[in-house]
Amino acid sequence: MSSQRRSAHDGGVVGTAEGLTARYSGAVMNTFGPPKRVLSHGKGCYVWDTDGNRYLDLLAGIAVNALGHAHPAVVAATTRQAGRLGHVSNFFATEPQIHLAERLVALTGAVDGRVFFTNSGAEANEAAFKLTRRTGRRGIVTAVGGFHGRTMGALALTSNPAYREPFEPLPGDVTWVPYGDADALRRGVDADTAAIVLEPIQGEAGVVVPPAGYLGAARRAADEVGALLWLDEVQTGIGRTGKWFGYQHEQGAEGPLLPDIVTVAKGLGAGFPVGACIGLGAAGSLLLPGQHGTTFGGNPLAAAVALTVLDVIESTRLLEHVISLGERLSEDLRAVAGVAGVRGRGLLIAADVAPGTAKAAAAVALDGGVIVNECTPDTLRLAPPLILHHHEVEPALPVLATAISMASAGGATHPSRGASNGEHDPGTIRRSPLEAT
Ligand SMILES: Cc1ncc(COP(=O)(O)O)c(C=O)c1O
Repeated sequence: MSSQRRSAHDGGVVGTAEGLTARYSGAVMNTFGPPKRVLSHGKGCYVWDTDGNRYLDLLAGIAVNALGHAHPAVVAATTRQAGRLGHVSNFFATEPQIHLAERLVALTGAVDGRVFFTNSGAEANEAAFKLTRRTGRRGIVTAVGGFHGRTMGALALTSNPAYREPFEPLPGDVTWVPYGDADALRRGVDADTAAIVLEPIQGEAGVVVPPAGYLGAARRAADEVGALLWLDEVQTGIGRTGKWFGYQHEQGAEGPLLPDIVTVAKGLGAGFPVGACIGLGAAGSLLLPGQHGTTFGGNPLAAAVALTVLDVIESTRLLEHVISLGERLSEDLRAVAGVAGVRGRGLLIAADVAPGTAKAAAAVALDGGVIVNECTPDTLRLAPPLILHHHEVEPALPVLATAISMASAGGATHPSRGASNGEHDPGTIRRSPLEAT
């Protein structure tokens, strides 16, 4: 059999899935394990593999593709800006960059702030980490279960020892306290604390939602010792939970809750790599000329795409849609046999399944044409495009139900290994005929 065939979709010559997977293994570093599928294209909430099989994407590149795949406004903005001015060095400013920075600060609800643009969440956190050092203090208090990325700085804050230990010593004077426990947080901070670092909802730990009032308590704890409050909104930000930022579901003591630093990435570019470290109030002025830098961060192409993402979320009233669809989808999942519990906010949703079966359930769901992921051995995560409609998800519910029941009937096929960030070896995947285009 020929090792190559014509793609039905783009007219190009592509390899077989098996051949491409073998080439991937030979050419790409093995940090993620073998790929589950080789994907060729996407449209709206669907993606297709190189064999022509269609999948409903309920993961959106792990909370990234907020506007689904190949959204016409994103395609147009990318094309328009690439044809006008794609990149300049940071010796120069561009209008999209200035506009995006102003827009992000305004969305936080703060009266003033300044932005450092990056290409990813870890880089946004790296910038924020450096910014905290400019307080003259070094201590960081953060939470057990937290995930902040894989650069040496971001890794230093990440809780899972398996991610950190091979790379120690890491920078920082970091203390982990139990997530959601306001008293433990207060006890953890002192006069050496530069910043408290928290996710408004812990994504990789299994979509862990803290008790109401927790972020307000974090704000007070930071204020009491003169520390910064830094919220990592890389997964929760840009509409994912039904507000622009996850912290906006909470109120402060005297009005809206405001952190000092917000880090974002994932949904901001809806697939285009762009992130931001947003310093609010005085925190926006801590980093001085020469103290941080980037070649690509905030280039006009990335900024124009991100502005378009914000425009579409606003003009199509997606935040309201995320809240109502999230509630409906959570109800649907609660009714699925084998789902022991559902939690989350907006379109960041976790479904607890029988212990140790999440990975097998995700694999069976994939065979059935539905993409979700196991963010812990016991938990499936859904973080679909914000543009998802209920009629699209309806046919996926029986697929998920079958996957969950088959996985639990098969027993706990995969040992507990902690939060996955999607990079664990996906194991054996049954192949079966899927809906083809
Ligand atoms: C809360 C949080 N922070 C930071 C990161 C790291 O982002 P990136 O993978 O873009 O470096 C992630 C990625 O999953 C995340 O969920």
